[in-house]
Amino acid sequence: MRLHVADHPLVDHKLTVLRDETTPSATFRLLVDELVTLLAYEATRGIATEPKEIRTPIQPMTGARIAAPAPLVVPILRAGLGMLDGMTRLLPTAEVGFLGMMRDEETLQAVTYANRLPDDLTGRHVFLLDPMLATGGTLVAAIDYVVERGAREVTAVCLLAAPEGLKVVEEASGDRVNVEIVVAAVDERLNEKAYIVPGLGDAGDRLYGVV
Ligand code: URA
Repeated sequence: MRLHVADHPLVDHKLTVLRDETTPSATFRLLVDELVTLLAYEATRGIATEPKEIRTPIQPMTGARIAAPAPLVVPILRAGLGMLDGMTRLLPTAEVGFLGMMRDEETLQAVTYANRLPDDLTGRHVFLLDPMLATGGTLVAAIDYVVERGAREVTAVCLLAAPEGLKVVEEASGDRVNVEIVVAAVDERLNEKAYIVPGLGDAGDRLYGVV
């Protein structure tokens, strides 16, 4: 597993406003969108391209375009949905699938409650969107899911990660596939309720309210 921590003053600034408990939902949603667009630039660095013949007004040339099959962007519901527009803004040719996973608050295990993904992901580059990499359980389950269906490359885009969760993903992903985590910051630890410390609270609740 490769880890890429975005190191940029704009990311630090936006993340600080995002973490602030007084930031209202509307601003929170806007900032998540902006942050993901910045992270998407880093996350797509390894995307495969193929040659494309074009003519400029001056002469023919060989350019590059994103190679087929199209990348697949998969927000992990519910909080990952807040990251979708920021990602597809930079990757408009991507297809979008959905994976609904939630944490069982007693066992802290990931439970899949919705799935709208192609069965065959052979050769696809899959971008998983999940703002909070906490215990790592959800992300490991999602990575397993897409790798079993043939994904060639998996990039998880997260806002915050806990060291404990990164370790779990690292141990589970081994070297069987190219797995990269792109994250705005790695925080201190998890608390006893598996929340990231200092974190930003419950990302889903802050995006969409407590429902
Ligand atoms: N999920 C969240 O929304 N926040 C955390 O801190 C951990 C998991």
